[in-house]
Parts: sequence; C-alpha cells; structure tokens
Amino acid sequence: MEILYHGHSTIQITTGGQSIIIDPFLTGNPVAKTKAEDIQVDYILLTHGHGDHISDAETIAKRNNATIIGTHELATYFSWRGCKVHAMNTGGSRSFEFGRVKLTQAFHSSSLNVDEEQKIIYMGMPNGLLLTIEGKIIYHAGDTSLFGDMKIIGELNVIDLAFLPIGDNFTMGPEDALHAAKWLQAKKVVPIHFNTFDLIKQDGDAFVNQLRQQGIEGMVVQPGESFSIN
Ligand code: NI
Ligand code: MN
Repeated sequence: MEILYHGHSTIQITTGGQSIIIDPFLTGNPVAKTKAEDIQVDYILLTHGHGDHISDAETIAKRNNATIIGTHELATYFSWRGCKVHAMNTGGSRSFEFGRVKLTQAFHSSSLNVDEEQKIIYMGMPNGLLLTIEGKIIYHAGDTSLFGDMKIIGELNVIDLAFLPIGDNFTMGPEDALHAAKWLQAKKVVPIHFNTFDLIKQDGDAFVNQLRQQGIEGMVVQPGESFSIN
C-alpha cells in the first residue's frame, strides 16, 4: 500500500490496483503539489462538508467515475450533483474492494456555504475514518476536537497509523493531539491539517519530538511525499 500526502487533510492510498482519496482539497490548497485534474482514484472518502475537505470531490468523482463515500447528507448532496455515491453514517462500517471503512465520531461541524444567498447548509455529523486496508488499521480523525472516546477507539482497534489534526483554531492543537495519540495507542502518528494557512501554522517536528518523549513514533510527511507502513 502506498500512502501519498497531498497536504492539509488530503490523503491518497493506493492498494491492489485501487486508489482512494480522503478529503480532496487540491484546488486552492497552497501546499498541494498535485492538480485535481491529475488525480486518478476509484473512491473518494469525505469526513465532513467543509470546503477545505470536499472542494475537489465532485470534479474528481465525475472525471474518474469514482464513488463518493460519506455520511448520509453529504452523499445525498453529491448524488444530486450527479456523482456516484455510497451513503453511510457514524458507527457504520462497510467493506469495499480496497478495504473496510468505518465512520467514527468527530466533534466539529459540517456545513456548506452558499455565499450568493448568505446561507449555510448543514451536512450532517462530521466523522473520522477507520480504514482496514491490507490488514492494517488506519485512523483519519477528520477535523475534530479531542474527545474521551478516542480511548475506546484505541482500546477496540490496534491502530497502525493515525492521521491527527494539529493546526489548532478549527481543530485540536498539538497539545490535545498529544493526548489523542496516547489514548489511541497508534503505532505511528502523522500530523495533518496544519501549515496550509497562517492561521493553522504549527511546528510539526516539535510535535513529533513530543510524541517521541512519550514513546510514540511520529512522522512529519511533506505535501507530495508518499510512504508505506509495515
Ligand atoms: Ni472542518
Ligand atoms: Mn478543515
């Protein structure tokens, strides 16, 4: 399995001839190295409806005939936009060709701005993603605050890799993400949702050093870099 980080919360995973992308935000993402037009995927997984997580979902889905997987409201919205979708909801899991997807809870919001009407459309609950691919468990926290049930997610799952937001302001900052990493007992932690904009500027290396002091392996991945887990 190859894991490619596109910056922000956008992660592409390729396994056994299939490729998935989580929260595609490339157009307007100042750190992304790849254009949305160059993304080739079979599935698009969405954690919530904010622009910095779904902005390229529709165009990537239509060009690739890819299926969008997300919570009921998000899936319904994209089906009305003419995309192939698979609706789920928090706590539900389902096997796909590439692996198993479970939607976990996240504490955040999920909405779409209709600027011309000054309207906000709520898009259901935000989620995290628990993926089982090639026997490995990958947790993508989505946008979330710290919450106590991360302990339970860690107790019930042997997490090989966790993507945790550290940007602060909109999500957990590094201090809370450190607690999250401890509670999740992930074998490896990769910080996300930081340094995309000034407002979420953080020192990823300092976070990884703090993880190390707690005996947790962390890794800063630069946008455009890929890696694998074993
Ligand atoms: Ni958000
Ligand atoms: Mn976000």
